[in-house]
Amino acid sequence: MKKWYAVLGDPIAQSMSPAMHEAWFSENNIDASYIPIHVPAQGLGEAVTGLKRLGCSGWNVTVPHKSAIIPFLDHLEPSARQMNAVNTVHVLQDGSLVGSNTDGLGFVRSLEEAHGALYKGGDVLIIGAGGAARGIAYALHSSGYGPITFTNRTMDKAEELAQGLSGTSVLSVSVAEASLEKFSLIVQTTSVGMNFAQQGMPLAISNVAEGAVLADIIYNPLETEFLKEARNRGAKTMNGVGMFVHQGALSFETWTVKRPATKEMIGKITTTLG
Ligand code: ATR
Repeated sequence: MKKWYAVLGDPIAQSMSPAMHEAWFSENNIDASYIPIHVPAQGLGEAVTGLKRLGCSGWNVTVPHKSAIIPFLDHLEPSARQMNAVNTVHVLQDGSLVGSNTDGLGFVRSLEEAHGALYKGGDVLIIGAGGAARGIAYALHSSGYGPITFTNRTMDKAEELAQGLSGTSVLSVSVAEASLEKFSLIVQTTSVGMNFAQQGMPLAISNVAEGAVLADIIYNPLETEFLKEARNRGAKTMNGVGMFVHQGALSFETWTVKRPATKEMIGKITTTLG
């Protein structure tokens, strides 16, 4: 029987995951399809029951369901447990549901695809203290990156994050701005600049070091004000397309045990959004 996969979210129409996974299924000669499903918050439990009954083999989970899906699953991989959020569900042969989170590792893979392990051992600054910051920090830490420092508009949240992850520390935004030179990898995880909605900079980057890489997890627009200024200062920049593609590639690997072509997909999505 033809396998099928899905992505659940609200909103979902804008998702690029269906086109990405369908292209990878076709490139890998896998007879499967991938559909977007609009699921409002109150309908999540029914949606999971329906997906199981209808023989769905696995699905992605996006906003606002990443944490809410957890009670409906049978097992959580360590990645999902650490982040208290799931973006990938795999339905095993016996029908049990396994949740994992590929967002953080997706970031690390995209960084390494672009720059190898060049930034391992250097100081890392993460701007933001939400779910995305947490996922990326855990993945960087477990991949051997760091020391990691968090900075955030709300200091309490950064401190809470740092307490949960050994070897990390916190700086206020103004102190981080003043000491920016010591960081070789700076990761922007806040929503500042997303969809052209919140313009501005989450942090001033006039003290950025030469040769540092500044990454933004936002991919729409392709270049936020943060990245534009970084580029104008001669820093290396990386937008969020790579993280998006690699989180999807890791889901694809979970379901099919095949590694899809990521570089080509980053190129295609960049053209579509450009
Ligand atoms: P996600 O799961 O995508 O990380 P989140 O958990 O809502 O989303 O976290 C959003 C992050 O963006 C937080 O770090 C938030 O800062 P606060 O903790 O101070 O709220 C940050 N953020 C959102 N809007 C911001 C703004 N205008 N300026 C600076 N930081 C902002």
